[in-house]
Amino acid sequence: MPDLSRAAAGLRIAPAEDLPGAARLLQAEGIRGWTVDVLAEAPARADRKVWTYGQLGSPFGVAIGQWLLEDAELLAVAVAPGLRRQGVGRALVDAVAVAAQAAGARRLHLEVRATNRPAIALYSGLGFERVGHRPGFYGDADATLMKLELRDPSSAAAFSPERR
Ligand SMILES: CC(C)(COP(=O)(O)OP(=O)(O)OC[C@H]1O[C@@H](n2cnc3c(N)ncnc32)[C@H](O)[C@@H]1OP(=O)(O)O)[C@@H](O)C(=O)NCCC(=O)NCCS
Repeated sequence: MPDLSRAAAGLRIAPAEDLPGAARLLQAEGIRGWTVDVLAEAPARADRKVWTYGQLGSPFGVAIGQWLLEDAELLAVAVAPGLRRQGVGRALVDAVAVAAQAAGARRLHLEVRATNRPAIALYSGLGFERVGHRPGFYGDADATLMKLELRDPSSAAAFSPERR
C-alpha cells in the first residue's frame, strides 16, 4: 500500500468545490457545526485553514486547524470509512501541525472523545500527549485533551511529517 502521508498526494487547502463534500464527511461523523458556509469562512481568515484530500470536488478526507498567537487547535479531522488506514488522517493532521507552526504556534491542542480509540491512536502516533480529561464533556462521553509541542520553525528539529 502506498504511503500517502509521505507523498502527500491529493492534500490541499480546500478549494470552494470541495466544501460540500467536506461538510458531508464531517456531518456523517457527527462532527457538528461545520456547514458549507462556516467552512467557506476560512479563506478570508488569517487564523483558520481547511484541508481536504482526494479527488477535487469529492474529498474523502478533511481537517480544520485554527491558531491564535502561540496556541493552535485541531478542530476536526475525518476520513471516509472505506478509505481509512492508508495514512490520510496522518497526512491531514501533519498539515495542520506544519501550518500552525509556520504561523508561529508553539502548541497544537485538541479534544477527542475518550472512547475514540482510532483518533487517539493517530494523535499519539504523531507525538500528542494526553494532558487532561473532562468527564461528561460530550454529554454521552468524556473528553481526552491532548497537546503536541511545536518547536521553533527556524530550528532544524522543528515538527516534520517525516518522523514516525
Ligand atoms: C481518526 C481518523 C481520522 C483516522 O484516519 P485514517 O486515515 O484512518 O488514519 P491513518 O491511516 O493516517 O492512521 C495513522 C495511524 O493512526 C492509528 N490508527 C488509525 N486508525 C486506527 C484504528 N482504527 N485502530 C488503531 N489505530 C489506528 C494507527 O497507528 C495508524 O497507523 P498505521 O495504519 O500505520 O498502523 C478516522 O478514523 C476517522 O475519520 N474517524 C472518524 C472521525 C473522527 O473520529 N475524527 C476525530 C475526532 S474530530
